[in-house]
Amino acid sequence: MAYEIHDTMLSEETIQRRVQELADEIQKDFHDEPVTLIAVLKGSFVFAADLMRAFKSTVNVQVDFISVSSYGNQTETTGKVKLLKDLDSNITGENVVVVEDIVDSGLTLDFLVDHLRMHRPKKMAVCTLLDKPERRRVELPIDYVGFVIPDEFIVGYGIDYAQQFRNLPYIASVRQTAE
Ligand code: PRP
Ligand code: MN
Ligand code: MG
Repeated sequence: MAYEIHDTMLSEETIQRRVQELADEIQKDFHDEPVTLIAVLKGSFVFAADLMRAFKSTVNVQVDFISVSSYGNQTETTGKVKLLKDLDSNITGENVVVVEDIVDSGLTLDFLVDHLRMHRPKKMAVCTLLDKPERRRVELPIDYVGFVIPDEFIVGYGIDYAQQFRNLPYIASVRQTAE
């Protein structure tokens, strides 16, 4: 099945404005203390890169990557989260912010928060650019939400359909092509 871009849901400007607000809020809540952003590969690498660059140059912000996958190339979660790559750094006693592009069923984040808590960070917060509450299967608190969105299939700004469309600087809905 082939898909094409349909409607822009969130423009580049709208996203960038919100990213700056989120960075400001996080820095304020952490009192400008050192913080490590944990980008959840692959989807969140675009958002994490922008979020990190929105921090003040005087704040010690670091980045680490963790890789999990539960969707494969499907549009529905398999329900099973696989850890593909763990963190490189030791986060024990550190401030961490888990950075996600989207929370859908919540299974990915639920798995990650449990996994990361074992390492006993000083403080752990969760930040997602997009939240699709209608699809939630596990309830979990999210500290920072960029946008609450309806249950539409979207791509762009790191989010893929079958690994495609991550490069779009905006977020768009997709639709099936005629053939
Ligand atoms: C997507 C998305 C989130 C997760 C959200 O990742 O980037 O990480 O699914 O869905 P959930 O709340 O239902 O768990 P995906 O597993 O597609 O891997 P990717 O980031 O490499 O595309
Ligand atoms: Mn992901
Ligand atoms: Mg994906």
